[in-house]
Amino acid sequence: MTEKLKFPKDFWWGAATSGPQTEGRFNKKHANVFDYWYEIKPELFHNQVGPDTASNFYNSYKEDIKLMKEIGLNSVRTSIQWSRLIDDLETGSVDADALRFYNDVIDEFIKNGIRPIMNLHHFDLPVELLRQYGGWENKHVTDLYAKFAKTCFELFSDRVKDWFTFNEPMVIVEGGYLYDFHYPQIIDGKKAVQVAYNLQLASSKAIAEFRKVAAKDAKIGIILNLTPPYPASDESEDLKASHIANLWKNRLFMDASVHGEFPAELVDLLTSEDAIWTSTPEELALIKANTIDYLGVNFYHPDRVSRPEFSTNSLAVDWMPDKFWKEYHMPGRRMNHDKGWEIYPKAMYDIAMDVKENYKNIPWFVSENGMGVSREERWMGEDGVIQDDYRITFIKEHLYWVHKGIEEGSNCFGYHLWTPIDCWSWLNSYRNRYGFISNNIHTQVKTIKKSGHFIKTVAEANALDI
Ligand code: BG6
Repeated sequence: MTEKLKFPKDFWWGAATSGPQTEGRFNKKHANVFDYWYEIKPELFHNQVGPDTASNFYNSYKEDIKLMKEIGLNSVRTSIQWSRLIDDLETGSVDADALRFYNDVIDEFIKNGIRPIMNLHHFDLPVELLRQYGGWENKHVTDLYAKFAKTCFELFSDRVKDWFTFNEPMVIVEGGYLYDFHYPQIIDGKKAVQVAYNLQLASSKAIAEFRKVAAKDAKIGIILNLTPPYPASDESEDLKASHIANLWKNRLFMDASVHGEFPAELVDLLTSEDAIWTSTPEELALIKANTIDYLGVNFYHPDRVSRPEFSTNSLAVDWMPDKFWKEYHMPGRRMNHDKGWEIYPKAMYDIAMDVKENYKNIPWFVSENGMGVSREERWMGEDGVIQDDYRITFIKEHLYWVHKGIEEGSNCFGYHLWTPIDCWSWLNSYRNRYGFISNNIHTQVKTIKKSGHFIKTVAEANALDI
């Protein structure tokens, strides 16, 4: 017997993507860090495919948005590229072609009945700011970012009512300053701590500008990748390890964005490690005063966490925040195809309850969830409809737990899959396919997958049959 799970009125049924992963570099004045990295080291990118064409959204946005409408999406998140919109990065003047482009894109979404959700930073710092100032290590860049954000609010908040300052700031920290998968490939725990702080500062400064200039009916938030850390056992060492991992990976940005304060325990820990960021009372007051209206939660996989393997004294010379914990794969768990990510849908419910109980029950939505598949969805030979039943199952399982969270009072107002149309993805390029719609990157032919037809029925009914 099937059960029908009804979702709240006006639920956002949609999908998420970003400017740097879809537009292509057409008519773009500045390179972002990934554009540049591909220029100097193409061999690092899967099959050496870079962001030059991406999914050609700059040229095909009308057709792409039509397809998104065809699969019933009522909301779509993408991003405005700083490196495209801004002509002079110091003064913040606007590039005329970029202005035309983003205006057209926004109008096209609205014309097709799709709510445009705009994010302002998706791993795409203009590379000149890295070269000139050391990027996010330098607080001047937080001012330049706030200026760019203000320009976006002034130009577009008459039509865009939903804004997000950053996508996954922790990934910028981990990728660029700890684990070597983003440019500038620095591995330095103390710099990572300062960059984390500066990213939060930048987000809060953008919110401060938003409160001054944005249309009154617009809202702003931040998108965080929340990976609940589950301890390996009930023993105190494992509990402690997962507690610290949670403070660093999740609570740093969550607490600062929702409550306006970094977790005191984390500040104490970093201070005792002589790794605390440099801050001023004025900056901390600004962070306190400029909290978010709502939250985007990207969820892909949980973290299984145990005590670190070695005693802290025997650890490497350089300080790293993860000296306090170890991540491991839990044997026998289902994995997300080739990604090596554990599938654990119940974490959606745990997140829902955490937001409800510890974060003022702030409104939130699933801003990304998804299944990256490489073997079955090769980027060649896509003539027919991709029968991605595994993705449908994945979505249903996660929605089940989102719904349970809502039933128990968590304030979730939407679900976005990563991603509407298969898009380019950083070093992985086109390795993992996530979309409701496939994209042949040679011909740019886009075809709705079985999951695209599935989501249409869910969105139309505002309900899920399980
Ligand atoms: C998300 C990012 O975390 O993961 C996206 O916000 C990214 O930008 C997505 O494309 C999938 O990543 P990957 O590497 O599996 O293709």
